[in-house]
Amino acid sequence: MIYKTKVRKLEDRVIGKTKIIVVIRFYFLNSKKPIYCLINSKILFMQLLKDKQVLIVGATGSIGSRTAQLLAGSGAKLFLTGRNTEKLQAVAASCKVSPECCFALDDAQPGSINKLKESYFQQFPAIDILINAAGIGIIKPMDTLDETDFLNTLNANLVTPFLLMKAFLPAMKATKTGLIINIPGVLGKVPMAGAAAYCASKYGLVGMMQSIREEVKRTDIRITNLFLGGVDSAFWDTIDLKVQREKMLQADEAAKAIWFLCQQPGSGVVSEMVLQPFNHQAI
Ligand SMILES: NC(=O)c1ccc[n+]([C@@H]2O[C@H](COP(=O)([O-])OP(=O)(O)OC[C@H]3O[C@@H](n4cnc5c(N)ncnc54)[C@H](OP(=O)(O)O)[C@@H]3O)[C@@H](O)[C@H]2O)c1
Repeated sequence: MIYKTKVRKLEDRVIGKTKIIVVIRFYFLNSKKPIYCLINSKILFMQLLKDKQVLIVGATGSIGSRTAQLLAGSGAKLFLTGRNTEKLQAVAASCKVSPECCFALDDAQPGSINKLKESYFQQFPAIDILINAAGIGIIKPMDTLDETDFLNTLNANLVTPFLLMKAFLPAMKATKTGLIINIPGVLGKVPMAGAAAYCASKYGLVGMMQSIREEVKRTDIRITNLFLGGVDSAFWDTIDLKVQREKMLQADEAAKAIWFLCQQPGSGVVSEMVLQPFNHQAI
């Protein structure tokens, strides 16, 4: 007769992947000898975060900073960028990231991404994950949207991701592995009045990343586009639009989605994720 069962998880590392096997331990009456029974032949392969070399661009932002903290908590090795140096220092301190692994990046400055690349590879020999959580939102109707607004938006949201690809994709190609996460948001898929510049930049980002995906599809380089709905963040502070910030997603929830994406199943790729507030499901 069985009087005691216990379920336990055995964790077994196989070349950067976690193998989780659930077994039941049986004890027969009057016997101290356990009998193990494998109950799930299904083996889950998930990417481990421990010691992964991760570059987070825009780590000073609401989503980027929380993502950095979650990844640091999972043992990833982080390299962080932000424009605001004070905020960057604060985020780095909260993640126990050394100053050498931080870079003050203002992508409006010519040559800044090349300098970032140099600094990054002085610290890390390779790159496992690139998360681009930087971006700007200029939301204005065509009557007031001017050429400078348009070019600045394209520069921050499209040219910078392109330059990041030029800087870091070769290292991923060299190892034939890696993960690149961008956040086009739902406005990279659906239009919105007043968002001509923003949608142009984010639709462009989606098209660019989908094309790059075609180029690298015979490797283990994963490209994930995260389509977030409104997130209550500093992003909205300068936007002159009536929005219900209290009904938006929390930056913490958006960061958890990214944290999850960083551990996506080893045998496949999450090419897209959509996460939207209940009251505004645009997709
Ligand atoms: N919030 C939303 O509702 C929402 C929805 C969908 C998608 N997204 C996208 O998610 C990403 C993160 O948004 P968030 O809500 O976390 O915004 P956020 O809090 O405003 O953070 C934006 C980040 O981008 C950086 N940044 C802005 N301009 C830059 C520049 N010229 N050069 C270098 N870095 C620059 C900021 O740096 P500093 O703070 O150091 O200046 C900050 O780290 C953006 O790409 C955004 O388009 C946001």
